[in-house]
Amino acid sequence: MGEHTQKRLVRKLDLELFLSKVKPHPSPKASLEQYTTPEQVAAAMLHLAAYTFGDITGKTVLDLGCGTGRLSLGAAFLGAKTVVGVDIDKTAIATAIHNTKNSNLNADINWLIGDLDAVTGKFDTVVENPPFGVQRHAADRRFLAKALETGTTVYSFHNHPHTDTLAADHLKPNDTIRGGPSPFIQRCVKEHGGSVEAVFTMSFIIPRMFNFHTKAKQEIFIDLYVIRRI
Ligand SMILES: C[S@@+](CC[C@H](N)C(=O)[O-])C[C@H]1O[C@@H](n2cnc3c(N)ncnc32)[C@H](O)[C@@H]1O
Repeated sequence: MGEHTQKRLVRKLDLELFLSKVKPHPSPKASLEQYTTPEQVAAAMLHLAAYTFGDITGKTVLDLGCGTGRLSLGAAFLGAKTVVGVDIDKTAIATAIHNTKNSNLNADINWLIGDLDAVTGKFDTVVENPPFGVQRHAADRRFLAKALETGTTVYSFHNHPHTDTLAADHLKPNDTIRGGPSPFIQRCVKEHGGSVEAVFTMSFIIPRMFNFHTKAKQEIFIDLYVIRRI
């Protein structure tokens, strides 16, 4: 483990600061839903995974649909034993490699260009912010299936089913509230041999990125699922 990876507890704000320097995709494609996870959201996931559940530090971590590496590099920063990041898009991986060099981490991080179906092997923990299936129906189901095939524990973001009724003033940016699983995701997890341990709802700000975005930024709510293979 390198000198810059962490053995001591990292404050969430320091993790956010580290993640804010991981550059997003320079030319994101709507068809691949190439939204970079905001640093606050990525930090909330990784901090919970590391310090509430003990699933990052010293663990083997797979990041499915890693994009430019925010979740992978954050896991390495928190002291993961090894990290593998996979993305179908070569510009995303080129940016992830650039971000790794800039991070000064001396950690075991491996980047692969390819479809998630090509991934084999077993990992302690899988982290993913999959396409929600807005552009390609049920895209997140494929990610969940592969995550449960390769990982013992899975941290996965999914669309919150009641975004329209969850008032923004109930959930401030950086807040995380405990929620319940959607029947759809719960069924999918069960079909693939997993069980939902916890769900955390949080706010996710999408900046205007694509020409179908009409506002400068849009707030949606997303659910972080903590899933164990049984
Ligand atoms: C919502 S983005 C998340 C990116 C990154 N994990 C992050 O948190 O910032 C989803 C990523 O999944 C990738 N992706 C989409 N379909 C894929 C597939 N079939 N195999 C591998 N990666 C895929 C996209 O290129 C994109 O980078």
